[in-house]
Amino acid sequence: MLSKNMLAEMNEQIKHELFSSYLYLSMSAHFEANNLPGFARWMRLQSQEELEHALKFFDYVNDRGGKVVLQAIAQPQVEFGTAETIFEQVLEHEQFITGRINTLYALAVKEADFASQVFLNWFVNEQVEEEKNATGILETLKMIGDRSTAIYQLDRHVGKRGED
Ligand code: FEO
Repeated sequence: MLSKNMLAEMNEQIKHELFSSYLYLSMSAHFEANNLPGFARWMRLQSQEELEHALKFFDYVNDRGGKVVLQAIAQPQVEFGTAETIFEQVLEHEQFITGRINTLYALAVKEADFASQVFLNWFVNEQVEEEKNATGILETLKMIGDRSTAIYQLDRHVGKRGED
């Protein structure tokens, strides 16, 4: 059985993961509208991953005898700047999510909730990956600057996500 505090934090996390999915889908729509189909696909896959993250928490809460209570999800941003500023936002958002996972982990340690620590380990590792991926693309975009040919090539490259 999850503690009352842990249940509340996990339900809160489901909201954050669903919002992440919504935010990245909105970024995907932006890239679609701006003729960058590779970035659009990358964001769409990212959005799907976030939905899977939310469902992992959903299943875990149920497995531990808690009740999932879905919360309202805010409208995501709909107007965005350059690809570089978007990936800056992605990195900032992932750093926020890492902070959330750390909060949950710290609570699990405080409550000696070992099952939740094991469950959260997957997310600790995932956040390392998430920040690394966002940082990698952001660094490349910074190198490219506003050279449109290079952005076009990078778009084709990131659009191959999941194919290898
Ligand atoms: Fe669910 Fe991108 O962290």
